[in-house]
Amino acid sequence: MPDKLTEKILSLKKQKSAVILAHNYQLPEVQDVADFVGDSLGLSIEASKTNSEIIVFCGVNFMAETAKILNPKKKVLMPEPKAGCPMAGMINEKQLEELKRSHPRAKVVCYINSTAQIKALSDVCCTSGNAVEIVRSLGNEDVVFVPDQYLGSWVEKKLNKKMVLWNGYCNIHNKILPEHVAQKKKAHPKALVMAHPECTPGVLALADKVASTSGMVKFPGTSNASEFIVATEVGILHQLKNLYPEKVFYPAYDDALCPNMKLTTLEKVLWALEDEKDELLVDEAVAKKAYRSIDAMLKAS
Ligand code: 13P
Ligand code: SF4
Repeated sequence: MPDKLTEKILSLKKQKSAVILAHNYQLPEVQDVADFVGDSLGLSIEASKTNSEIIVFCGVNFMAETAKILNPKKKVLMPEPKAGCPMAGMINEKQLEELKRSHPRAKVVCYINSTAQIKALSDVCCTSGNAVEIVRSLGNEDVVFVPDQYLGSWVEKKLNKKMVLWNGYCNIHNKILPEHVAQKKKAHPKALVMAHPECTPGVLALADKVASTSGMVKFPGTSNASEFIVATEVGILHQLKNLYPEKVFYPAYDDALCPNMKLTTLEKVLWALEDEKDELLVDEAVAKKAYRSIDAMLKAS
């Protein structure tokens, strides 16, 4: 039975023909009111094809920015405008321009966890769900990859290709240590290990499956295993437990919690729909350039 708050959100959403998009790390109750819950790639695709005039985006800033860049005429509301991603702040325009000057012939691939300004300076964007495919599509070109060094080194390994990597990282995935995974593996020897490519190479080396958050949500459905160790942010367990009640999931590290992802609450979702005031805006000139790298990604994946 939905509670009063959920009922209000659902009725206002219908009345305003709004769509609610939520990332896999959002609070369980926020995921439950969303029309679509997914990873950054799925959310971008969903944002690119929605007919709704209002998009309520429950996630972090770079995700809502991507939705706005894909829908410049639509109203993108962020229930919690302060929800940012520290990794996206680990490279700025000046640093990327300098990197481009040092590697003038290289193609610039930016992870979607970056600002609109960085996307505007890049040739193509990628997500954890398509990074290998995007870099592969560039053939023998030299590649500068920003900002996540671990996703970058994972791509290097998969494609046996050297790239110029920026030294950014996710401070949440960085907390998950190989020792944590090894301890859980010892306690649950039959469990398979799923890991997000933002984890360090030491953790990824212990994984049976490396995938984006939605890749991890799908994997247990394709596997005979009944236990899984999950090396990513713990919010994903809500989807996993709902979809596979007969299987058991253990977080690799219980404190892998992204505080920014938890800033969006049901109350804030309701207020966003009621007041329509926290509209996310992206500078038009920046948005136009950034659109090219996001569109190049959507076309290539
Ligand atoms: P996904 O695109 O795999 O959902 O990852 C986004 C993210 O921020 C992971 O920390
Ligand atoms: Fe950013 Fe890491 Fe949070 Fe993902 S989990 S939004 S990369 S800080």
